[in-house]
Amino acid sequence: MIFFFSATGNSQYAAQRVAAATGDSVVSIGVAMKDRHFAFDVTEDERIGFVVPTFAWTLPGVVASFINKLELTGYRDKYVYAIFTCGESCGGGPAAIRELLGRKGIGFSGGFELVTIDNFIVWSTIPSEEEVSRKLKAADVILDEIIKSVCAKKSGIISGEYKNLYMPFECFSSSDGTSKLIVSDDCVGCGLCVMMCPTGAIKMNEEEGPYWDGECSLCLACLHRCPVSAIDYGTDTVGKRRWKYPGLIPQTINKY
Ligand SMILES: Cc1cc2nc3c(=O)[nH]c(=O)nc-3n(C[C@H](O)[C@H](O)[C@H](O)COP(=O)(O)O)c2cc1C
Repeated sequence: MIFFFSATGNSQYAAQRVAAATGDSVVSIGVAMKDRHFAFDVTEDERIGFVVPTFAWTLPGVVASFINKLELTGYRDKYVYAIFTCGESCGGGPAAIRELLGRKGIGFSGGFELVTIDNFIVWSTIPSEEEVSRKLKAADVILDEIIKSVCAKKSGIISGEYKNLYMPFECFSSSDGTSKLIVSDDCVGCGLCVMMCPTGAIKMNEEEGPYWDGECSLCLACLHRCPVSAIDYGTDTVGKRRWKYPGLIPQTINKY
């Protein structure tokens, strides 16, 4: 079984590629969180994988929250691995997930780093089409190697120490002005941002459009996936290209 979290598709793509090679089923952490579905039986499974993005050199808060709630049965003596997709480096991610899983009595065999497109456009920018294509090809070569290791149940890298176990949620509220996520008049009210938000932090007001109220993991799914680029993070993302992994149907495949 492969648990994946993905805002812009990098981790979903990797999860699907691994699943195609191992025959494992794929579970979207985003969908499971929204459905409050945390019980999974992995008795029949040979491998348990977590394919997730790196946030602030560690685990996204939403993934840590899911792992804390996870009720796994049949996990003993299983090969348990994680793949961290990232723009530059997965930092202490593998050490953090080893610690979180260890607290639940789940052993960890190792983590792998997959450098791909950096979707944190608050600090960076999406490169040109040519550069994107070059980076995706390079990532595919690494992913092929990771898949071989996962199929052979090899230990990955559990490098270093984590500084933070996970990147915490931000408590956002449009009404009291604490949300840096804002919507422009270009919004067409399609509701995709509400659907994609893994923590249910976005609500829809029929007249004024989407607003934020609750715990936000800052995954940026709303910002990148808005069909008219109406969502920005303050002024930091204005005019910047958005990213979603090409050709993927978001999040909902093989739910459980
Ligand atoms: C809030 C946030 C923090 C991030 N922090 C890091 C980081 O510390 N190091 C890094 O290399 N990439 C970082 N990234 C980039 C993502 O890890 C990377 O683009 C990832 O592949 C996105 O996966 P997804 O497309 O499955 O959502 C960050 C992205 C976000 C949204």
